[in-house]
Amino acid sequence: MEFNFHNPTDVYFGPGEFTRAGELASRLGRKCLLVTGRGSARRLGFLEKMEKMLDEAGVGYVHYSGIEPNPHLETCADAAEVAVEEECDFIVALGGGSVMDACKAIAVGFHDPDNLWDYINHGQGEVKRVEQALPLMVIPTLAATGSEMDNGGVITRWETREKCVISSPKLFPGVALIDPELTVSVPLDYTMDGVFDMAVHVMESYFNGDRDTPLQGRIIEGFLLAVFDEGAKLYRDPSNLKLRENVQWPSSLALSGFFTAGRGGVYPVHLLEHPLSGHWDISHGRGLALIQPRWMWYVLDSDPVPFARFAANVMGIDPSGDYLEDARAGVKALCKWLDGVDLFLTLSDLGIDEGDGLVRAAEDSIRLYGGKNGQIGGVMPLGLEDVLAIYRMCGTRDFI
Ligand code: NZQ
Ligand code: ZN
Repeated sequence: MEFNFHNPTDVYFGPGEFTRAGELASRLGRKCLLVTGRGSARRLGFLEKMEKMLDEAGVGYVHYSGIEPNPHLETCADAAEVAVEEECDFIVALGGGSVMDACKAIAVGFHDPDNLWDYINHGQGEVKRVEQALPLMVIPTLAATGSEMDNGGVITRWETREKCVISSPKLFPGVALIDPELTVSVPLDYTMDGVFDMAVHVMESYFNGDRDTPLQGRIIEGFLLAVFDEGAKLYRDPSNLKLRENVQWPSSLALSGFFTAGRGGVYPVHLLEHPLSGHWDISHGRGLALIQPRWMWYVLDSDPVPFARFAANVMGIDPSGDYLEDARAGVKALCKWLDGVDLFLTLSDLGIDEGDGLVRAAEDSIRLYGGKNGQIGGVMPLGLEDVLAIYRMCGTRDFI
């Protein structure tokens, strides 16, 4: 194993911690761009409380609202210009993953608003290196992406529907204020999308990373056992704060580097999902729920061992001695779990038809993320025809 584990985010976690926002913000700067989504922060009263806390702490602010789910490059560039005009010296994100991701782009755009797309990896060969970024405080209101403790964000160039990643060590939030009370209002569908998103974040590493790392493997299995259990309970009892708390911390940790240190891994399921949420503006977690079981089914013959292990250690399948049979049983069990939380979906459930759009999405996947050899990596590298085949499997529940 050889790795650099670096996560500088200062985390404050717990129900009621939101009341510390003013004091914590005052440590980062003098005047912030306070960024929110399309309406929930205002509707739920979080914005008003935040503004009051900033006033009391003597921190200036300018409010920027309207960050979209699947945040647009164009909006981030506009917000960055506001931050420049208003002479902000840090950013506060109050919202879900989309708001937090947008703030990372704004933090970079502040120093170079006209060239923001160059810093985002869209298959252009050389990605512009982030030399400077405004400091960032994040206050997640939805448990899902883990943007609060990672160094990346996903931004969609709306004009072309290209959804791509920006990342840099400079984009770790300085402060993450994580208060599960803020997530109790999240509607049930987004709640479960978020639960599945956090699960997929570690599954990517489990299936596509270095397997000779027994501690990380066991930690990921424990993570998944807890998240699938608590997630299913939360589905039945969404106003339960303790359950909200129990899925919040895993979501924050999943992409923090903790699980991937020494294990690495690539993200094929994400790289197949991003063109779907880019083109059809669907919820990221919903798109993952479509792709994950189909991707597993498609690739498991190439190397059934990790899938059989997942079946036994996470899904509770009694090993039969036949890896392939066990691997398939694991995927069926995952589909059953998804069905139990209303996430065993098809393309038409998400309003995606199987026409030319799917071909365009598959081409985007290879063009934007396929690198020099034009393949999506992972336990089985995928070319254009493979990506398209997996998308087409999403048309039905009967792929298994
Ligand atoms: O826009 P508002 O009004 O705020 O409403 C949002 C939005 O409609 C609403 N919401 C947020 N908090 C709420 C709430 N509604 C009620 N009560 C609350 N407390 O929920 C809706 C979805 O919000 P969004 O931020 O889009 O969801 P999520 O947190 O799942 O973020 C998804 C984005 O993150 C990216 C995804 O691709 C997608 O663009 N990802 C970011 C990653 C990262 N930074 O590392 C990794 C992930 O894999 C993912 O790709
Ligand atoms: Zn994700």
